[in-house]
Amino acid sequence: MSHSTRLTPLSAVNSGPLKGRIRVPGDKSISHRSLMFGAVTLGETRISGLLEAEDVLGTAEAMRTLGATVMRTGTGTWTVTGLGVGGLLEPAKVLDFGNAGTGSRLTMGLVGGHHIAATFVGDASLSRRPMGRILDPLRRMGVDVIARAGDRIPLTLKGPETLVPITYRVPMPSAQVKSAVLLAGLNAPGVTTVIEPVATRDHTERMLEGFGADIAIEISADGVRTIRLQGRPEFKPQEVTVPGDPSSASFAIVAGLIVPGSDLTVENVLLNPLRTGLFTTLLEMGADLKIENERVSGGERIGDVHVKYSELRGVTVLAERAPSMIDEYPILSVAASFAHGETVMLGLEELRVKESDRLSAVAHGLSVNGVPNREGEASLTVTGGAQGLGGGLVPTHLDHRIAMSFLILGMAGSEPVTVDDTDTIATSFPNFLDLMRGLGAEFAAAKDA
Ligand code: S3P
Repeated sequence: MSHSTRLTPLSAVNSGPLKGRIRVPGDKSISHRSLMFGAVTLGETRISGLLEAEDVLGTAEAMRTLGATVMRTGTGTWTVTGLGVGGLLEPAKVLDFGNAGTGSRLTMGLVGGHHIAATFVGDASLSRRPMGRILDPLRRMGVDVIARAGDRIPLTLKGPETLVPITYRVPMPSAQVKSAVLLAGLNAPGVTTVIEPVATRDHTERMLEGFGADIAIEISADGVRTIRLQGRPEFKPQEVTVPGDPSSASFAIVAGLIVPGSDLTVENVLLNPLRTGLFTTLLEMGADLKIENERVSGGERIGDVHVKYSELRGVTVLAERAPSMIDEYPILSVAASFAHGETVMLGLEELRVKESDRLSAVAHGLSVNGVPNREGEASLTVTGGAQGLGGGLVPTHLDHRIAMSFLILGMAGSEPVTVDDTDTIATSFPNFLDLMRGLGAEFAAAKDA
């Protein structure tokens, strides 16, 4: 799964108006979870619209290694025949999650809830990311952890015979931490409680309920969520329809807003309110962005996002918005580069522990392309509207969203923008280049990478 050390650079060049209608691949968060829920459900769960990208294929392979039968039956259509809650088997080989934070961390929760041992490995990016945030609650539930200093992978987990159901207050806004505790708690006798001071994406809770768990969510007046899960439910196999990923859609949406004359629609996008912070922010910046054909499918709000080129203006994005657009700051920073005035983004501390240190990767990428910016400890200020943007070479640090964001910058810049590697794009959005080409984007072989 790990990429070779040879990089595949590419330049994006100033492109004509971007026009057309596209569908982006399935939501990454829901795709991972549907495979995992299927693996702990007796009978056949059917999934359509699954994201067939490296991160999710890694989870499919991990669920197979843990004993589930996972089969691809057509494009995006998969079946998972699972083993029931508590039924996963000790894997005969290591679980390799490549670049995938969500796949690895949620599976740690799942494995921790079983009396089995499993070893987790990944690429250089994943091996740098903090896992203590997952391991701390798992240790409290009785899971044995063998990890190198600093709680990084490679690491081995061994779940206890009987897990201790705990009450856990999530110390940072993280759907991965919340989900890992809930997935472990699935096989604990009694009630596992997760207290979430700041709401994060709620796909795990929705799917727990959908598969038949007894789960109760209480939201206090100040927004604190208390999630109570009764352990050892009997899951019923489901038909899961995965909607388009709003995080992937964001690249084309921002491209449509900053490339003059553009008019494009991304169809079938997940509009869960805990995921749509970027769209709210773009509207505040003056974007001509409309949601069309809004509907509900599989318990989630979805719709088509229609954008036209817009004169954007800088805004302040408060810290409280961060969880609902946590993966979208790189592409928002690109939009901000073409807006009039300053865009101030606050509460960005979690960006430092993503696939790369995204705060410094974005700040550096902007600087080498002539966009004035200021990187704070947990903030970024971008001054838009400078002339002659582009011309830089951006190091992507094994981070798909850095690669895609800066290619979009190149489409609206005066000079080409080169990213040092495009292979990582396959972790979340394998047909990104083809879809963008279909809208009118132009790329060129990188000359000086
Ligand atoms: C995800 C949660 C977020 C997000 C990631 C997907 C999930 O991570 O950045 O891309 O599916 O639960 P954190 O939980 O670290 O914020």
